[in-house]
Amino acid sequence: MPGAVNGKTILLIVGGGIAAFKALELVRELGRAGARVLPVLTENGARFVTPLSLSALAGEKVRTSLWDLEDEAAMGHIQLSRAADLIVVCPATADLMARAAAGQANDLAATLLLATDTPVLMVPAMNVRMWQHSATRRNLATLRADGIAVMEPDDGAMACGEFGPGRLPEVPAIMAAIAAQFGEKPLAGRHALVTAGPTHEPIDPVRFIGNHSSGKQGFAIATELAAAGARVTLVAGPVHLPTPAGVTRIDVMTALQMQAACAAALPADIAVMVAAVADWRVDAAGHKLKKDSSGPPPLMLTENPDILAGLGHHAQRPALVVGFAAETGDLIAHASAKRLKKAADWIVANDVSDGVFGSDHTHVQLVTATGAEDWGPTPKQAVAARLAARIADHFSGQP
Ligand code: CTP
Repeated sequence: MPGAVNGKTILLIVGGGIAAFKALELVRELGRAGARVLPVLTENGARFVTPLSLSALAGEKVRTSLWDLEDEAAMGHIQLSRAADLIVVCPATADLMARAAAGQANDLAATLLLATDTPVLMVPAMNVRMWQHSATRRNLATLRADGIAVMEPDDGAMACGEFGPGRLPEVPAIMAAIAAQFGEKPLAGRHALVTAGPTHEPIDPVRFIGNHSSGKQGFAIATELAAAGARVTLVAGPVHLPTPAGVTRIDVMTALQMQAACAAALPADIAVMVAAVADWRVDAAGHKLKKDSSGPPPLMLTENPDILAGLGHHAQRPALVVGFAAETGDLIAHASAKRLKKAADWIVANDVSDGVFGSDHTHVQLVTATGAEDWGPTPKQAVAARLAARIADHFSGQP
C-alpha cells in the first residue's frame, strides 16, 4: 500500500490543534515511503509545532504566510497548490474545515485549498463536541459533496479529558488513506446508492419493531465503492458506525424514510441494497401505550414497500441493481426467485442460520443470470472488496 506514495508530492497543511505533533510522525512516514512533502503551517499550527522541526523532517522550506514575498517570487501559492499530487490537511481543525467549506481565502492554507483542483484529504482532529456540533456536521457534508475526502476521527479519550470521536486517526491509518487516494479509481464518475442497517418501525413513541442487522456489511461496501472512486450515497438505518471517508450518509429510521431517501438520491448508476428492511410497519400509537385490564394491545401491521424491487422496476432504474438475500434454507433457490421478482441483476445470498448478524464474517454466494458463485466463508470486508471489484469489472469499458 505505501508503495503508492513513492515519488509523489504531497502538500501537507498542518492546522492548529494539539494533534499537530502527530503531523511530524506523518511527515517522517511519508518520507520513508518515498514521498516529497511540501509543508504548510497555519498561524495556529505554529503554536503547536515549530516550522524548524517540520522543515527538518520534510527537508523542505515550511510555508506559513500568503505575504512572504520570497515565496511568491520562487513559487506563488497557486503554483504551490498545483505542484502537489495530493493535498493532505492534518490535523484538519473545525476552523479550517469551516473556512474551506465556506470557500474562504483568508490565510495561506485556505487560499491553497480554494485555488487548487488537486485532490484533498482532510484528517480531522478536534474536541468531541466540536466534531458533533451541527455546524461541523454541515461543513463536513459540504466538503464531502465538494469531492473532498474527509477521514473519520478515532474514538477515545481526548487531550481535553473528554471521551468520544474526535481524535486524530493513527498514522498508519492516515498513510493507508493517502495511499488509497493514489489507487486506481475504476468507478470514478459513477454514483452508487447503498442501503445498510436495520429499520425501526415505531409501535408508539418509545417502542419499535427492529432486527439484528449491524450495518457492517453495507458500510464496508460503501467504503469499498468510494475507494474505487464512486460517489457514494449511503442510506443508513439506526446503527452506531462511523461514516466511511468520502461517503455521503443519510440517516433514516423507518422503511418509508429509507425508500424516500433512496428515491431522492436518484439518478444512480449502481444500487446495492444491503439493509435489512422491516417487512411490516405498525399502525403506531401517538402516545405511549399503557398496560391495562384489557390485556396486550393488538399490533396492526401494514406491509412496507420493497425498496429493492421499487428500484429494479423504477423508470430511473440504476444500470446495475444488486440485492442481498438473507436465508435460513434453500439458499440458491430463494435467492434466484428474489432476483427475478425484484428485478435485480445480482443477489448476494447469505445463510443467516448461524449468527451472521453483528459478526465480522459471513458466507455468501453471488447469484447472477448465469448461475451462482460460492465465495466461501470470508470477512465481510473481503466480500465488500470483491463485490466492488466485480462492479468495477461490470462497468469497465462502458461509457
Ligand atoms: N429489501 C428492500 N425492501 C424491503 C425488503 C427487502 O429493499 N421492504 C431488500 C433488502 O435490502 C435485500 C433484499 O431486499 O437486498 C432481500 O431482503 P430479504 O429480507 O432477504 O428478503 P425479503 O424480500 O424480505 O423476503 P423474505 O423476508 O420473505 O425472505
